[in-house]
Amino acid sequence: MPRLFFAIEPAEDALRALAEAAAAVARELGGRAVPPGKIHLTLAFLGEVPDSRIAAAESAAEGAGGAPFTLRLDRLGVFRRAGVAWAGASAPDPALIRLQETLAAQLVGRGFDLERRPFAPHVTLARRTDRTLRETAFEPVAWRVTEFALVRSDLSTGGYERLRRWPLAG
Ligand code: 2AM
Repeated sequence: MPRLFFAIEPAEDALRALAEAAAAVARELGGRAVPPGKIHLTLAFLGEVPDSRIAAAESAAEGAGGAPFTLRLDRLGVFRRAGVAWAGASAPDPALIRLQETLAAQLVGRGFDLERRPFAPHVTLARRTDRTLRETAFEPVAWRVTEFALVRSDLSTGGYERLRRWPLAG
């Protein structure tokens, strides 16, 4: 069964900067850089979802959202247990938090079982890092977020497929 998640995808310039940062971080920490086509910020991870439930996930997205905002990533860190290096925001725009909260509430209301961990907005840059790193400043990467997407992750190929996008307007 495919795994589904909602995500924010970087605009073109930001994607280029993040892909370069991913390569550099993987070199330094000994992990594998996330390929440019898979660089994103996860808003909600749904896990394995049967096709019959995709419409419910889409309708949750209709009820979520808010205004466009600027996402500015300015911190670099490592989740040691997960072995991932990430870029994060020291001061996430409240609109990002609102988007994530409204989306999570809509999904939970439709019976999706989300992680109960607090939302830690981040873009994973490298996986399987074998060295850790004290959280540090990161040459800021910013872009205007005007939409979010529902993405399907195919475990057999490792590829991502964007199923649908929703604009932010408000
Ligand atoms: P990560 O980047 O921190 O690994 C697709 O797998 C996306 O969903 C990834 O960005 C991943 O976050 C996120 N995700 C959140 N919870 C997950 C879980 N339990 N298993 C796999 N991916 C998860």
